[in-house]
Amino acid sequence: MSTRAEITGIGVALPDARRTNADLEARVDTSDAWIRERTGIRERRVAAPDESTATLAIDAGIAALKDARIAPEDVDLLIVATATPEQPIPHTGAFVAEGMGIRCGSFDLAAGCSGFLYSLVVGNSMLGTGTAQRVLVIGAETLTRVIDPDDRATCILFGDGAGAAVLEAGNGDRGLLAWDLGTDGSAAEILGIRAGGSRRPASAETVASGEHWLHMAGQEVFRRAVRAVVSSITTTLERSDSSAHEVDWFVPHQANARIIDAAAQRVGIPPERCVQNIERYGNTSAASIPIAIREALDDGRVSPGDLVLLAGFGAGMTWGSALVRWGRS
Ligand code: ACO
Repeated sequence: MSTRAEITGIGVALPDARRTNADLEARVDTSDAWIRERTGIRERRVAAPDESTATLAIDAGIAALKDARIAPEDVDLLIVATATPEQPIPHTGAFVAEGMGIRCGSFDLAAGCSGFLYSLVVGNSMLGTGTAQRVLVIGAETLTRVIDPDDRATCILFGDGAGAAVLEAGNGDRGLLAWDLGTDGSAAEILGIRAGGSRRPASAETVASGEHWLHMAGQEVFRRAVRAVVSSITTTLERSDSSAHEVDWFVPHQANARIIDAAAQRVGIPPERCVQNIERYGNTSAASIPIAIREALDDGRVSPGDLVLLAGFGAGMTWGSALVRWGRS
């Protein structure tokens, strides 16, 4: 049997401060009823001034190592998935490695909200080469730092947080069984931040015109997301010779409750096997899947031996899905 990544530890970090729908009602023309009906969100977490993507990643990473019962020096590779890096240079992984006392190779992985899934697949591949035995994968975001607080189309959706997973090389029946990743760059314009990169460097003009805020064509993202997630899941299930009714838990990226419901229904997974916590955290991008898994582990839903299906989509557009037999072999 080939070597595959087993997920042996999960840790999360969430800021204490909550931003409720009532808080948003006070600032933009929206309503609690509209937000709940269209997105399923009631509140999201907001990083404190002394918190950042790296500090949340460090806290989640430490919690994941503790859960896996391994030490920082046992980590052979660190991957930080984020769309909201600590700063342009150096990469967020440098700050996280320093904060955790890690000295192995590290890099950031940018694939929007699909970042955690991409990192899982890359970590699995590194374990497969035999050059790494333990990979720490962290999805960490501070989306509230790039959201225009006056844009009702985006400020209602996003929250801050981090989730981390320890991947260890296994040769049994547990771990990552199959996966699918994809990108459609023709959709690059429907979701993103236009300024601050090489094409449009930061200037007084880009700041004045609001080009450092995240912009989004919500309906178009919605339409494409459901299609991409359903097709990716179909591919992953085919690759593992599995069917939707064998899946014990579906843990999707938490972007919008309606997207999750539509995708689950089309794939044939009943709501009671779908893990959703968007109500309390909003969309935490690359962090949302590990945060949802941690909750499902803590309340006893996901347990060793379960077949867990992960899926997500994000800016790019990117998408991905993965089927995991939970636990250590
Ligand atoms: N409060 C009240 N009304 C609003 C709000 C708001 N916050 N936002 C928009 N509206 C209005 C619109 O102006 C529109 O009014 P009109 O009919 O008078 O023109 C009406 O509500 C409907 O707007 P739609 O955009 O059609 O609303 P929709 O049902 O599509 O919901 C939403 C919008 C929630 C943004 C949805 O499209 C969505 O969730 N899309 C996916 C977004 C997503 O997942 N993004 C993350 C991608 S992952 C990543 O990488 C970051």
